[in-house]
Amino acid sequence: MDTTLIISGGILIGCIISLSWFAGSDAPFVPTKMDHIRKILKLAGVKKGKRFYELGSGDGRVVLAAAKLGAYAVGIEQSWIRILYSKQLALHLPGINVKFYHGNLFSKSYKDADIIYIYLLHKGVKKLEEKLKKELKKGAIVITQTYHFPNWRPFKKEGDFWLYKQTF
Ligand SMILES: C[S@@+](CC[C@H](N)C(=O)[O-])C[C@H]1O[C@@H](n2cnc3c(N)ncnc32)[C@H](O)[C@@H]1O
Repeated sequence: MDTTLIISGGILIGCIISLSWFAGSDAPFVPTKMDHIRKILKLAGVKKGKRFYELGSGDGRVVLAAAKLGAYAVGIEQSWIRILYSKQLALHLPGINVKFYHGNLFSKSYKDADIIYIYLLHKGVKKLEEKLKKELKKGAIVITQTYHFPNWRPFKKEGDFWLYKQTF
């Protein structure tokens, strides 16, 4: 086969993989800065016996941080490549309770969640407000990053993070 054709094919595949690493329908992949996340997760009550979900879990590091605090931690992510990467990271942490699911975060139910973490663009956060208000059990905590719910009043704001509690 022609060498130029092989090189062009390789470059094309490389570009597709690179673009798919950043792509996302309700937000592109922009990772949470990890400096403050442990403190925020603790503030939200993430610990052993709690069920934590991250909606749009990106490279999985926030889910793994929650699992390291003892929670049963679940990530939902629409990018296969990021799910595979997250599962790979989890392999290095034996003994934690963690699951990563590939799929659309809007098609799952979160009625058993104790804590939810969301870092999506404004339109995605807005769409989730009504769904979570309907589904979450009393006492469940939601953390949003950078973008906040338009109507739900947070009980705490810490840096770029908003914390909400389901009260009914
Ligand atoms: C801004 S990034 C945040 C990643 C991660 N939560 C973090 O804080 O580091 C948003 C992530 O949500 C994912 N995402 C966007 N829309 C989604 C959808 N409808 N279903 C599942 N994942 C989605 C994107 O693929 C991307 O990985």
